[in-house]
Amino acid sequence: MFTLMNQLAETTAFIKGKVQTDATIGIILGSGLGNLAQEIKTEISIPYSEIPHFPVSTVEGHSGSLLLGELSGKKVWVMSGRFHFYEGYSAQQVAYPVRVMHMLGVKVLLLSNAAGGVNTNFKVGDLMLINDHISLFTVNPLLGKNEESLGTRFPDMSEPYCKKLIKYAKQIALSNNIDLKEGVYTGVTGPTFETRAEYKLIHVLGGDAVGMSTVQENIVAVHCGMKVFATSVITDLGIREEENIITHEEVLQAAKEAEPKLTLLFKELVKYL
Ligand code: HPA
Repeated sequence: MFTLMNQLAETTAFIKGKVQTDATIGIILGSGLGNLAQEIKTEISIPYSEIPHFPVSTVEGHSGSLLLGELSGKKVWVMSGRFHFYEGYSAQQVAYPVRVMHMLGVKVLLLSNAAGGVNTNFKVGDLMLINDHISLFTVNPLLGKNEESLGTRFPDMSEPYCKKLIKYAKQIALSNNIDLKEGVYTGVTGPTFETRAEYKLIHVLGGDAVGMSTVQENIVAVHCGMKVFATSVITDLGIREEENIITHEEVLQAAKEAEPKLTLLFKELVKYL
């Protein structure tokens, strides 16, 4: 039968047939934030299109391959490009690669994304460490039959982002002069950017940033016992006086400009792991 566990076994066997490793760190790079991949001494790069049961990414700015390589002297799996709910995949499909990483032995997952700022102290180009999230506006990837061998039916979500990793990241930011903001990421489906009223609502609800990824990957990672660390690059401001509009190009450009800070943070953080 074509169950989730069968699919995972097939995907994992395919990848293990290409490369053997004891890597325990996984990294998923967000929109316009793929350059970290260039810092990695790549051992193998597998296009998503070749991997059984992997969806294929369609968004500009996503290169779409699974890499194994070395970063800061540690072996890491890197997803260069991710899957989004707005592309038409189910929430389960969006998070499937995280389950694959779990099956491959990953224990710590680092995530990055581009997000809109709704905290009025934020500016474009800021890096925001995610200390919690709101995912009530998106579809939960754990809906449906629970796979007990992966995790429990009702996972605790009181520490979705590892406090210890957050502490390390703050120390790294301090000693490298990175102005690291902190806050709550609100997951939405997209693909529309939010209306002014929606940005305001998210702000009132306690969000500091809003984006179209990350929460599903986080939930699946927490479900299977991984530690997660995530940062947003603030690429646009939802709460603003000006009449300017938000475009995908502008988001990618802002992400690119802020990327060196993110790369440094991840490289240093990996040394701690
Ligand atoms: N809203 C949602 N997703 C985003 C945004 C935004 O303003 N910016 C980048 N991703």
